[in-house]
Amino acid sequence: MLCIKVPLREAEKVKNELIKKDLLDKDHYLKKDKEFVYFPVKKRFKSEYKLVHKILKKKKTRTNLRSALTKKLRKKDLVFLRTSMDVIGNVAILEIPKELEKKEKLIAKEVLRTNKNIRTVLKKGKHEGVFRTQKLKYLAGEKTTEAVYKENNVILRLDVEKVYFSPRLSNERKRVYKQVRKGEDVLVMFSGCAPYVCVIAKNTEAKHVTGVEINPEAHNYALQNVLLNKLNNTSVFLGDVRSIIPKLNKKFDRIIMPLPRSAIHYLDVALKVSRKGTVIHFYDFQKEGETNKSVEKIKKACRDAKKKCRVLRVVKCGQAAPREFRFCIEFMIL
Ligand SMILES: C[S@@+](CC[C@H](N)C(=O)[O-])C[C@H]1O[C@@H](n2cnc3c(N)ncnc32)[C@H](O)[C@@H]1O
Repeated sequence: MLCIKVPLREAEKVKNELIKKDLLDKDHYLKKDKEFVYFPVKKRFKSEYKLVHKILKKKKTRTNLRSALTKKLRKKDLVFLRTSMDVIGNVAILEIPKELEKKEKLIAKEVLRTNKNIRTVLKKGKHEGVFRTQKLKYLAGEKTTEAVYKENNVILRLDVEKVYFSPRLSNERKRVYKQVRKGEDVLVMFSGCAPYVCVIAKNTEAKHVTGVEINPEAHNYALQNVLLNKLNNTSVFLGDVRSIIPKLNKKFDRIIMPLPRSAIHYLDVALKVSRKGTVIHFYDFQKEGETNKSVEKIKKACRDAKKKCRVLRVVKCGQAAPREFRFCIEFMIL
């Protein structure tokens, strides 16, 4: 497969250029080593970077959907097609660009036809409000918004419209649970339908995992998910972290704050239940190269709370917008 060999630090810039010039081959996975990213490209072209040959894995779903649609969509429409989708159990959530709105039902039917495990296709909305839920539009298949999803050895039941949930964060949840040590007392703030709570409780030897969530629908699913996964070292609470957490009357070894953009408004709550050695996983949205802004916010909150901290690592763990990423800033209380 023809690829362009790009130094890691320039990967994002080159990828955007390739997409803009319609040169990126979206039907194959890219390859990465310690120094370079190899992007599959559609044809030879002049570039300051080397063009090389690599063996790359083919993307099954995308190929099927794109090729199935080549006969049904005009070439100029196909350019706008986004074949990546969120699959939560039997439910697929599709991003339909404005240019393809008139073809959305047709695309959804092809998704059903080409993916035997998908029974419902919905159109993605915008995450809004305190609950971070999205209004979804029914496109094809069975009329339901409830899904049963498996990841990291747990089963999660949830309503994809009434509860925030992202399957794209399953690797991030794995990365976090791998850090949890035997005997830890873990707090998950903003716990939703309890994906972090269940994944940590199921895969680690944590002493206890506590979740706090304000959305009653999400909390109800959290209760079900704790039962479904037969977890007995967990507690989930319904309510605002600001009023619930002080009443728990305990300190934690690890605190997870998966509420990017607004987590800073609740860092004082987390700091009050931290002690020497507590590790905090603080999520934020930032532009590449601007994570120092998040670090500064954290340091200021620690100073205000008269606590000392040390940043352990900053991890990029997702994309929020074209040039905005989800970062996890992990720091320890000293
Ligand atoms: C981005 S979602 C993350 C949910 C879950 N942790 C996950 O990863 O799927 C943030 C969650 O925080 C909840 N939330 C927002 N403000 C809150 C608050 N003050 N107290 C408790 N939960 C809150 C929302 O209802 C939402 O479910």
